Amino acid sequence: MNTYDLIMKKRNGYPLEKEEIIYLVNGFTNGDIPDYQMAAFLMAVYFQGMNDEETTLLTIAMADSGDRLDLSGIKGIKVDKHSTGGVGDKTSLIVGPILASLGVPIAKMSGRGLGHTGGTIDKLEGIPGFRTTIPEEDFITQVNDIGLSIIGQTANLAPADKKIYALRDVTATVDNVSLIASSIMSKKLAAGADAIVLDVKVGTGAFMKTLEDARKLAETMVAIGSLAGKTTIAVITDMNEPLGNMVGNISEVQEAISCLRGEGEKRLMEVSETLAGYMVLAAGITSDPKEAKHMVDDAITSGKAFEKMKEFVSAQGGDAEVLEHPELFPKAKYVCTITGKDLLHARNQTANWREAYLESCDNQEIGMVSLILGGGRQTKDSVIDLTVGIHLYKHLGDRILEDDKVAELYGNDDKKIDEARRRFVYAYTLSQEPPALSPVVYEVITNKK
Ligand code: URA
Repeated sequence: MNTYDLIMKKRNGYPLEKEEIIYLVNGFTNGDIPDYQMAAFLMAVYFQGMNDEETTLLTIAMADSGDRLDLSGIKGIKVDKHSTGGVGDKTSLIVGPILASLGVPIAKMSGRGLGHTGGTIDKLEGIPGFRTTIPEEDFITQVNDIGLSIIGQTANLAPADKKIYALRDVTATVDNVSLIASSIMSKKLAAGADAIVLDVKVGTGAFMKTLEDARKLAETMVAIGSLAGKTTIAVITDMNEPLGNMVGNISEVQEAISCLRGEGEKRLMEVSETLAGYMVLAAGITSDPKEAKHMVDDAITSGKAFEKMKEFVSAQGGDAEVLEHPELFPKAKYVCTITGKDLLHARNQTANWREAYLESCDNQEIGMVSLILGGGRQTKDSVIDLTVGIHLYKHLGDRILEDDKVAELYGNDDKKIDEARRRFVYAYTLSQEPPALSPVVYEVITNKK
């Protein structure tokens, strides 16, 4: 077998056999296949696609490329959760404590932000003292003791995905259904949970821009979950604007704290509560969706989920005092306010308007605004600034007047703030009529009986 022939076979549109996929994955992981050949192969997959069988074989080969985590030492049904990536998506910080407070063990390995999307591990590192790397035995012990631990992915969990993802990120081959499905599901299978709840994002800030593509991605991941014998539930949710009011690492932790205290923004709470409800069902605590919803609501209103967040933060070395007093978090030096007038004057067509509705948003641009401020990575080794971010005071469908505050940008560098501001005001389109709004939760695809 040789790599050149396999690249050509895929380039010409033929499906690959099991041994061929294993050869490519193992060869790339151990360094025998160079980046340039893997990049060519990924581009061939991007244009020619993979059938369901190939996608499943790719997933299994990547999951088998390193260790598989053994969670058998944790009592109860372990439910994992994964988002396909978005802007302002802090739901893991909300659903983790909710589920743990309900007795569902959450042993989660999360990722860092890349490109315009954020990552849970960066956000958690915004909590002073919080450790995202702890030994595996301590991780298991912590889940048995308090029901929740979230750490960074260990180097040897699906190492093939780690290498392939880094290459996809710089070769414009991220947004392909087979490559995303195999990337996510290989990590989930290697991470050892019994059941998986997936948040499949769709819209301008997501990798999947259309509902049709998001549905295909959800169906593919659920089918892989079925073959692996895992209950898998995919919830398709909206990413046509940032989720919630805050974008940026520390800002998002602060917003997650507000949600756990019962003061969350409406759309963010709808997504978080929906995911948490499906996690309760997947854990088998109840089979009644209404009861699951009631349990999730109660975890928040009773304050149990917030108490669990404090326990979790302390257990991983973080300063839980900042959760009681979010004003103690480190702050950026500058605040730049963006008004309705700034948005209206950004385009000639709207410059004479006195008021307008926020019609649509290029949400990937909003992710880029956060990245430009310093909150995201241009390359995987970039150092990020956890204090910078965006506070949105208005959402799609809201009417804005000239003097209304639309957003605040938090930054530490004048030049970056200027560029971020310029891009922010162009990211929205305005209308004179109230726009039709997208649903928050579109549909659910599941193999759960
Ligand atoms: N998240 C992942 O883990 N992998 C992808 O390919 C895309 C989003």
